Amino acid sequence: MPADTALRKSEERFRRVVEAAPNAMVMVNAAGLIEMVNAQAERVFGYTRDEMLGQSMEILVPDRFRHAHPGLRATFTADPRSRPMGAGRDLNARRKDGSEFPVEIGLNPIDTEDGPMVLSAIVDISDRKQKEEKIRAALREKEILLGEIHHRVKNNLQIVDSLLDLQLSKLDDPTVAGMLRDSQSRIRSMVLIHQTLYQSKDFARVDFAAFLDSLIPTLVASYGLDSNRIALSLEVKDVQLPLSTAIPCGLIVNELVTNVFKHAFPGARRGGIWVALACGEDDQVDLSVSDDGVGLPPDLDVENAATLGLQLVCLLADQLGGSVRIERTAPTRFRLRFPIQR
Ligand SMILES: Nc1ncnc2c1ncn2[C@@H]1O[C@H](COP(=O)(O)OP(=O)(O)OP(=O)(O)O)[C@@H](O)[C@H]1O
Ligand SMILES: [Mg+2]
Repeated sequence: MPADTALRKSEERFRRVVEAAPNAMVMVNAAGLIEMVNAQAERVFGYTRDEMLGQSMEILVPDRFRHAHPGLRATFTADPRSRPMGAGRDLNARRKDGSEFPVEIGLNPIDTEDGPMVLSAIVDISDRKQKEEKIRAALREKEILLGEIHHRVKNNLQIVDSLLDLQLSKLDDPTVAGMLRDSQSRIRSMVLIHQTLYQSKDFARVDFAAFLDSLIPTLVASYGLDSNRIALSLEVKDVQLPLSTAIPCGLIVNELVTNVFKHAFPGARRGGIWVALACGEDDQVDLSVSDDGVGLPPDLDVENAATLGLQLVCLLADQLGGSVRIERTAPTRFRLRFPIQR
């Protein structure tokens, strides 16, 4: 087969591949004039083939980008490599009727008998963009809804809190009043969890360190603790807990810290309390509340305590699928370990 026949055959094959390509293809010469287009380019841009051939390719560029375009073409010609155009930027193309649509463009330098050309493959990504926008809107809506729910749960808990306040104001019995105050304290720590969640960006996870940072001063204030007598130290790592874990865990901290305030330092006894929280590589959360107060009463059976506080701690630890380890004196330490559910 003579050389020119072979060449013509391969050019013909090239044309057919370009013509049948699913993307719009536009070949432009060094002067920026359109040399070749395929059927899909006619459909996408709304021009007939004859209307495009020989024209400046800038007819396919939105008006406001036109003046800059020859410069960009020159940059490509200076360093011709196959690559996506305008990487990272949003690109738009222009139809015959002047309307615009978002595109992705692949640029390929091609050497031809008539000199260097650039073959562009153009994909209309309107559909994808629309779907992305829909997903984004749905996500926004979901987040607003979740925020609203936490807000309402919080408000309802605050109403319960106020109802208890009303009852307290009519009570003379100090024992019953103490019990109602303990219930209020439990409710308030739940309020705090919802508030922490509501204020965080991620509604699925509670920033537990932030929660402890606001819970503990609240407890200190409600028990009128003297910081000169009892020193408080918090060692909390950044741990994010799902709501289902954060609520029981928050209630446990509430019980344990309250117990220290109520029982560990009777009279004028001085000392310290340590709260530590960390999450290991094995996704086990370690939470401990320690104090160097009087220690647990020797006759106290923690697992079978008749009192509500420790019963709650054991029940909630079970609910978390975790375990509680107790050291009774010097220091008194409650150590809770539970798996984080991802
Ligand atoms: N850190 C501590 N130091 C010393 N004693 C403690 C400590 N924690 C608990 N106790 C003892 O264990 C007992 C049981 O605690 P628990 O929390 O179950 O009940 P409570 O605090 O008395 O009442 P509530 O049911 O309101 O919590 C307490 O009454 C107290 O004697
Ligand atoms: Mg208690």
